[in-house]
Amino acid sequence: MSGKSTGTMTVTLDGSNKSAKLPLITGTIGPAVADIRKLYGELGVFTFDPGYGATASCDSKITYIDGDEGILLHRGYPIEQLAEHSTFLEVAHLLLNGELPNEQELRQFQQGVTMHTMLHEQLRSFFNGFRRDAHPMAVLCGVVGALSAFYHDSLDINNPEHRRISAFRLIAKIPTIAAWAYKYSIGQPFMFPRNDLRYAENFLYMMNAVPAEPYHVNPILARAMDRILILHADHEQNASTSTVRLAGSTGANPFACIAAGIASLWGPAHGGANEAVLKMLAEIGHVDHIPDFIEKVKDKNSSIRLMGFGHRVYKNYDPRAKIMQQTCHEVLRELGIKDDPLLDLAVELESIALKDDYFISKKLYPNVDFYSGIILKAMGFPTQMFTVLFAVARTVGWISQWQEMMEDPSQRIGRPRQIYTGAPARDYVPIERRKKHN
Ligand code: ACO
Repeated sequence: MSGKSTGTMTVTLDGSNKSAKLPLITGTIGPAVADIRKLYGELGVFTFDPGYGATASCDSKITYIDGDEGILLHRGYPIEQLAEHSTFLEVAHLLLNGELPNEQELRQFQQGVTMHTMLHEQLRSFFNGFRRDAHPMAVLCGVVGALSAFYHDSLDINNPEHRRISAFRLIAKIPTIAAWAYKYSIGQPFMFPRNDLRYAENFLYMMNAVPAEPYHVNPILARAMDRILILHADHEQNASTSTVRLAGSTGANPFACIAAGIASLWGPAHGGANEAVLKMLAEIGHVDHIPDFIEKVKDKNSSIRLMGFGHRVYKNYDPRAKIMQQTCHEVLRELGIKDDPLLDLAVELESIALKDDYFISKKLYPNVDFYSGIILKAMGFPTQMFTVLFAVARTVGWISQWQEMMEDPSQRIGRPRQIYTGAPARDYVPIERRKKHN
């Protein structure tokens, strides 16, 4: 662990004379953290924190978020600067290796990725095992998990070179798998990756091109795609990243761990939210229906949420949402879409919600997903592909976090405890003596 010890905190057990002195640890920025590892040994009590809202599960040098101020830094660099000046592969290098690459390092890194963009030929037949109408996240999860069965030469998790090659393989192959999942769903031939194209361009090419005619990647859309990938590249210990770390803590191979992350990302409270935003906008249908919808969201007895709003950590505007909103306008302008009813609806919904006491008092602001769905839809992505795209970008963050964990000598298997509220110990009852239920 690399945080600094900056003091102690004393916890006293009421009604007894027992107390424990807990070390306080401080990172580079952010609040101090109480190290509770000795609490059970000294006081015989555990801590209870379902949802881990108040628990740091690791120390990390990769990403910093200040949710109250709406700040997101990768290795110290603000997301706004990275989105404006950097490229996705440069950010991938930064996340994985800790520093922005110089020209030579970037060239080598790009080459390392492009060398691995193709899939093993036998992996192609995996796609045929899925129904054509399978959700592409199901296909992605299955095929990424299956990579462990193909790349035995990079599966020794204790070998740094194997870890490096696995990272390259994952970052390089995930766009190919994602694009093929899409092509499979629409019955078009798979397009092989083109290593003369940049990462985002190649992804758009594999998604949209067909062998029958040449395909030109629109540079403005390629830049927008690159920016979307940057905005989703990492977000510290969110649900899917924590899933990857937890799976990795057992010594599972990186392909299996990333497949676990993909499964976790799929849920509508996490990566599935941008798909859910579009469904919600379609259901609302017209700006005149917004007040009724907002009332339903606020009704305690309804389970309806304003999708794309709220975040576990951000209690302010998600900085990624601002960039996404700007990118959304750029993409619609480039595509010549002047009046997009969904965008008009989203803008109106956002402005009404931001003035509403319910959302203000609960500090609910737009998150990264509020606008991303509109951009992706305008770019021609079907809604089912939205979360897949998120997974393509987040693979870099997952594998960087996994690498960091593997290099941390203090890492142990993740094993949360619980408060047991079930039956106390009791004796087995033979079936003929059990109570009959009507
Ligand atoms: N709409 C309406 N009310 C909401 C919303 C929302 N989107 N989000 C939270 N609330 C309310 C809750 O009902 C709760 O109210 P209560 O205190 O009266 O019970 C309060 O705000 C706190 O909500 P929690 O669920 O405890 O907050 P949590 O931090 O656990 O949830 C989450 C965060 C899951 C993102 C939530 O805000 C949500 O469901 N948002 C919609 C889905 C979404 O956009 N997810 C994307 C997240 S970003 C990402 O993964 C990239």
